[in-house]
Amino acid sequence: MHVRHLTVGDFRSYVSADLPLAPGVSTLVGLNGQGKTNLAEAIGYVASLSSHRVATDAPLVRFGAQRAVVRAAVVRDGRESLVELEITPGRANRARLNRAPLTRPRDVLGTLRTVLFAPEDLALVKGEPGERRRFLDELLVQRQPRWAGVRSDYEKILKQRGALLRSAQPVLSRRGRGRGRTPEGVDPAEARADALRTLDIWDEHLATVGSRLLYARLRLLRDLVPHLVAAYQEVSANQAAVTAVYRSSLHEQAAAAVADGEVPEPERLHELILESLAQVREQEIERGVTLVGPHRDDVVLGLGEMPAKGYASHGESWSFALGLRLAAYQLLRHDLGDDPVLVLDDVFAELDSGRRERLAGLIADCEQVLVTAAVSEDVPEALAGARFDVTLGEVRPG
Ligand SMILES: Nc1ncnc2c1ncn2[C@@H]1O[C@H](COP(=O)(O)OP(=O)(O)O)[C@@H](O)[C@H]1O
Ligand SMILES: [Mg+2]
Repeated sequence: MHVRHLTVGDFRSYVSADLPLAPGVSTLVGLNGQGKTNLAEAIGYVASLSSHRVATDAPLVRFGAQRAVVRAAVVRDGRESLVELEITPGRANRARLNRAPLTRPRDVLGTLRTVLFAPEDLALVKGEPGERRRFLDELLVQRQPRWAGVRSDYEKILKQRGALLRSAQPVLSRRGRGRGRTPEGVDPAEARADALRTLDIWDEHLATVGSRLLYARLRLLRDLVPHLVAAYQEVSANQAAVTAVYRSSLHEQAAAAVADGEVPEPERLHELILESLAQVREQEIERGVTLVGPHRDDVVLGLGEMPAKGYASHGESWSFALGLRLAAYQLLRHDLGDDPVLVLDDVFAELDSGRRERLAGLIADCEQVLVTAAVSEDVPEALAGARFDVTLGEVRPG
């Protein structure tokens, strides 16, 4: 697929901008701070309804404006779809697909698929587990948009279970046991039994949705790793083998079963989550947080025998992060029988000339690639395509 046209209004530094695009490579060139990444971010937003730079929508709206608009005409198999998004911080986004308003904006997911690689991705290797969980979950959604619903259900369950743990803490904690009746005349033992029953129900919800998410992540990682190994080799021409192993927060044997390589059945994962919750219940009541489940998991990235985090050099980390994104690209391409749009934000400046040329070779056959660079000399000749100059929130054909 490819984007034929992108329009933004009151988005980041742009009052308005029009970007006519074609298949092949398009390069946005401009000095730092001129608005290149803002456009890359807008394309990514159409595909994922989130930014690769910020967790909330407010910074996406031009400072002082009320709302931002992003429009993309997307061509897939010769058929064009128009996605229109209105971003209003503090309120639900509004979305239209081919001019028809959507009741649920997330129904636009899947219309455009992108893989975006940006300097922020170094955090995939060096950052906290949350970065790697987000990578997996966002890729799940790019692969099959229905996972967006499962992700948001899981988030809701976590919130409500957390609220329950905290509100029930006085009746559940040891300190609360054995005292007389509360001022309302409730028997503490009864109140306790009541709270525990409610908690059991939430354990069940958590295990039901959590096991689905865990199962999907494990299968995704299993499918992704061969692409990762290949992509890392190609980018770095390095001998070190890369590994990516799921590290689950479940109890020890369960975690071992999950890391084993064979993906357990969802029913088994459901049981393992319930067992693990039972083991940590006392601690959860004390601390008022859910201690096991997909929200506490990680993916351990390794280079040779060593973990990448803390050991890999800057260049190796960079190649690893790039390898993860290129692997995501290959996975989507093979799965969907269609190329996602590849966005490479400020990537070439960071690479030595060997890596630049190898990367250029790797992406030469992609349907559409959008590249940003501060100076055009950083972009290999092989990628010469359409060029746009970006200055002070304006974009013009170069
Ligand atoms: N919400 C916003 N309103 C107005 N300007 C913004 C907003 N968000 C970012 N900017 C401006 O956009 C510029 C950065 O654009 P960016 O696309 O990241 O630059 P680059 O060309 O280096 O990739 C900065 O000057 C920043 O002040
Ligand atoms: Mg930038």
